[in-house]
Amino acid sequence: MMHDKIENADLERIAEVLYRRHRYDFRDYAVSSFRRRVVRIMQIRKLTVETLIEKLTHSSPAFAQEFLNEITVNVTQMFRDPGFWNVMREEIFPAIPRNQNHFKIWHAGCSSGEEVLTMTILLKEMCILEHVQISATDINTSTLNQAKAAVYPLKAVQLSEGNYKNCQGSHSLKSYYREENGYAAFDRDLIAQVNFFQHDLVMGETFDQVDLIVCRNVMIYFNQSLQNDVLRKLHKGLNKFGYLAMGSKESLICCDFSNRFSLVNPTEKIYQKIID
Ligand SMILES: C[S@@+](CC[C@H](N)C(=O)[O-])C[C@H]1O[C@@H](n2cnc3c(N)ncnc32)[C@H](O)[C@@H]1O
Repeated sequence: MMHDKIENADLERIAEVLYRRHRYDFRDYAVSSFRRRVVRIMQIRKLTVETLIEKLTHSSPAFAQEFLNEITVNVTQMFRDPGFWNVMREEIFPAIPRNQNHFKIWHAGCSSGEEVLTMTILLKEMCILEHVQISATDINTSTLNQAKAAVYPLKAVQLSEGNYKNCQGSHSLKSYYREENGYAAFDRDLIAQVNFFQHDLVMGETFDQVDLIVCRNVMIYFNQSLQNDVLRKLHKGLNKFGYLAMGSKESLICCDFSNRFSLVNPTEKIYQKIID
């Protein structure tokens, strides 16, 4: 069988074994991206559908985790979408209801951490970083390790300098890292109070009393029914009047819970929970 002709029924079998054997639930992921990633893994590892299913059934959990790390789409960038970060800086961070002088942020689907660093740099420049408790989670353990290391290819970071300026950055991005053999090693103080850990938005529990959830460009990979389920959890995790920031191509329009949120910034897809 040609790899790019993989049948939907085979994708369903792969998702099913991943769920039954390893408790990762990809059964409601959008098919097109799931198909592309499965095909890519099969080509790179020279596997047929049958050998892949065989491996997922009988290999160690480590193979399933490797498979999972390759199946997720992890594209991200520092200071991507300056318009979004400007609204965060000017409107959302100042408006977050403070609880005992600190607030809680959950960065769900943080990938390799560039968005988390973007946020901590902005919070530091606003002199409120020490008032913030941040949990940054992803299902992908490999990208989480990159996030914890906070070391990125220098060229990619240099490309973000313009966007940092467009976010009214008060220094130069360079002042936050040192160059080491073609890499930018960021100042570890920036992520000192960030708690990075693996968490599955589909199978995992939600968190409590969060003031801001940043979950951008994650739900585009879910089908409508899964988006609904995950949004229900995000709603539950938020404090009343807490904020939910989504990606520019995402929205709550078709979600059962949409009437419990108010759209505070339609361009940047920032919502506020108004009903418990
Ligand atoms: C395209 S990246 C988005 C990264 C970042 N939020 C941004 O917009 O730049 C999507 C991330 O969602 C993560 N992801 C996918 N399914 C997930 C799940 N069930 N639970 C937690 N994270 C998940 C992927 O591993 C990936 O890192």
